[in-house]
Amino acid sequence: MAFNAVWFIGLCAILLGCGFHVEASHQVYRYLQVHHNITATHQPYRTGYHFQPAKHWINGPMIYKGIYHFMYQYNPRGAVWGHIVWAHATSTDLVNWVHYEPAIKPSIESDIKGCWSGSTTILPDGKPAILYTGIDPKKRQVQNLAFPKNLSDPYLREWIKVTQNPVMTPIDGINASSFRDPTTAWLAPDGQWRVIIGSKIDRLGKAILYKSKDFFKWERVDHPLHSSENTGMWECPDFYPVSVNLQGVGLDTSVIGPNVKHVMKVSLDDKKDEYYTIGTYKLEKDIYVPDEGSIDDDSGLRYDYGKFYASKTFFDSSKNRRILWGWINESDSVTDDVKKGWSGVQAIPRNIWLDKAGKQLVQWPVAEIENLRKTPVELQNTQLNGGSVLEVTSVTASQADVEVSFNLPTLEKAETLNLTGVNPQILCSQKGASVKGNVGPFGLLALASKDLLALASKDLEEQTAIFFRVFKDQERFVVLMCSDQSRYMELNVLQIDHSIVESFGGKGKVCITSRVYPELAIFDKAHLYVFNNGTENVSISKLSAWSMNKATIIN
Ligand SMILES: *[C@@H]1O[C@H](CO)[C@@H](O)[C@H](O)[C@H]1NC(C)=O
Ligand SMILES: *[C@@H]1O[C@H](CO)[C@@H](O)[C@H](O)[C@H]1NC(C)=O
Ligand SMILES: *[C@@H]1O[C@H](CO)[C@@H](O)[C@H](O)[C@H]1NC(C)=O
Ligand SMILES: *[C@@H]1O[C@H](CO)[C@@H](O)[C@H](O)[C@H]1NC(C)=O
Ligand SMILES: *[C@@H]1O[C@H](CO)[C@@H](O)[C@H](O)[C@H]1NC(C)=O
Ligand SMILES: *[C@@H]1O[C@H](CO)[C@@H](O)[C@H](O)[C@H]1NC(C)=O
Ligand SMILES: *[C@@H]1O[C@H](CO)[C@@H](O)[C@H](O)[C@H]1NC(C)=O
Repeated sequence: MAFNAVWFIGLCAILLGCGFHVEASHQVYRYLQVHHNITATHQPYRTGYHFQPAKHWINGPMIYKGIYHFMYQYNPRGAVWGHIVWAHATSTDLVNWVHYEPAIKPSIESDIKGCWSGSTTILPDGKPAILYTGIDPKKRQVQNLAFPKNLSDPYLREWIKVTQNPVMTPIDGINASSFRDPTTAWLAPDGQWRVIIGSKIDRLGKAILYKSKDFFKWERVDHPLHSSENTGMWECPDFYPVSVNLQGVGLDTSVIGPNVKHVMKVSLDDKKDEYYTIGTYKLEKDIYVPDEGSIDDDSGLRYDYGKFYASKTFFDSSKNRRILWGWINESDSVTDDVKKGWSGVQAIPRNIWLDKAGKQLVQWPVAEIENLRKTPVELQNTQLNGGSVLEVTSVTASQADVEVSFNLPTLEKAETLNLTGVNPQILCSQKGASVKGNVGPFGLLALASKDLLALASKDLEEQTAIFFRVFKDQERFVVLMCSDQSRYMELNVLQIDHSIVESFGGKGKVCITSRVYPELAIFDKAHLYVFNNGTENVSISKLSAWSMNKATIIN
């Protein structure tokens, strides 16, 4: 059993005995293909509402003339990595998409062996620019620049690579195999652009800093913006400001000043996970310094404690928000991906901002996704006695959006636990949904199977549990949130179907994205339950579950 897990400190931390409230929005988005056929060698592509197969690193989402653009790493020849181009789709709502011809494909000396990741930057005159990593004939990673051919075309269908390419090359000790993924550039108060490129020297991960007066001619700054020992290659770095006092609001990437903190995120190639720190951009030295206590290695904070990689944010100027978009890798085999005909999906775009306490980020799915909701099913003030399981009926459990808050009348009985040195992942596997506790485990069983012949022993044979347990560590209460990935009670694990469970806990303070491949709980055979396997009663203050319409994704 593979568990994803995370701690969070309850809202009522420190205050003993107060009513405790846990909120989770749990989105179950399913079925990117119409048919569920084990033997099919090719299946119809993406009919769900997550964005379509993106293989490997993603690129620069942005908004231009009111239209969202998403460009991503795509292999036009198959469901495996290779022949990478920048596929291109646009949207007016981040939910429904139309595809165009790839924006960028290998065509010049400095990208002939591949057009890898990069970012878009909107210049002050409104003109978008793409900086991306190209692979040259010597297999060196270099950085290239491109602009739209026709700025009057809101769909930006054609892009022109500048004749000065490559604009950055791996010289003076930069490892030519570890020099990639330029970020969105920012304009510093000295009137010069800055951009960082992910790199490493031995195990020292770093963000190489460049500056430019004109966006064409880039000069390397003699020190990295930031680096961290023993982290390995930094892929898809992201560096952006967040507002200290305005929750839910985003800032343009160039904003700096009072009441602004900066976030640096890196995707660690060695771990295949993403980590971020919160800190200060010290302009006078051109360095980023993480706050005291903000850990900048692989024991630090993550955007998501499940499958989530190669993410990027962009500033959505039309709604003053910063949007985070990540890639959800498969957890099946490459052979299965080839059989399926596709691999990888984009998570639902999320709003991202700094939590009030300033120590971590908060995320929530963009509101636009709610337009796909159909009539809700609601439960209110429903008691869940210890040991009970209750089905939430009349919802398409294979493709649903669920919001739930639990009310815990008393925490007196919470088990005590010394958190120091405890790994939540291990604790989740030791204290899974079926291991009784006092306050919890309670939560949701998604994609659960039900035996139609009503053989109780067959019920819930297959399920994905998203659950909580409350512990007491000295004077505070902590909530353990777990989401198990592919929890099958029988041996057959066939990676033939596609599903994602994205969970948001603690009002967006913790996120876990799970990749599951159900075998029984598919289409209308999927069911949704709430359960409480603790000894203490809990109640659902409110649960709303919506069946979800499909997004329109035109190829
Ligand atoms: C599954 O796909 C295979 C190969 O494409 C086809 O021969 C078979 O009829 C399909 N089965 C079903 C139940 O659709
Ligand atoms: C540029 O785009 C606009 C809007 O789509 C279009 O009307 C115009 O013909 C295009 N110009 C060229 C030179 O293609
Ligand atoms: C350069 O990067 C490549 C790819 O990660 C690695 O195999 C190689 O050891 C690196 N060379 C040095 C000198 O760090
Ligand atoms: C994607 O998932 C596969 C299978 O779980 C894993 O081997 C691979 O390392 C992952 N790649 C990334 C970039 O996360
Ligand atoms: C918790 O565990 C740590 C490490 O095992 C230990 O140093 C500490 O004294 C413990 N705290 C309490 C309150 O027992
Ligand atoms: C609750 O715990 C019992 C006993 O450990 C277990 O058999 C059952 O599967 C658990 N229920 C859920 C929903 O996990
Ligand atoms: C849970 O509620 C039931 C019925 O409402 C009650 O009989 C039982 O004592 C409660 N259990 C606890 C541990 O409070």
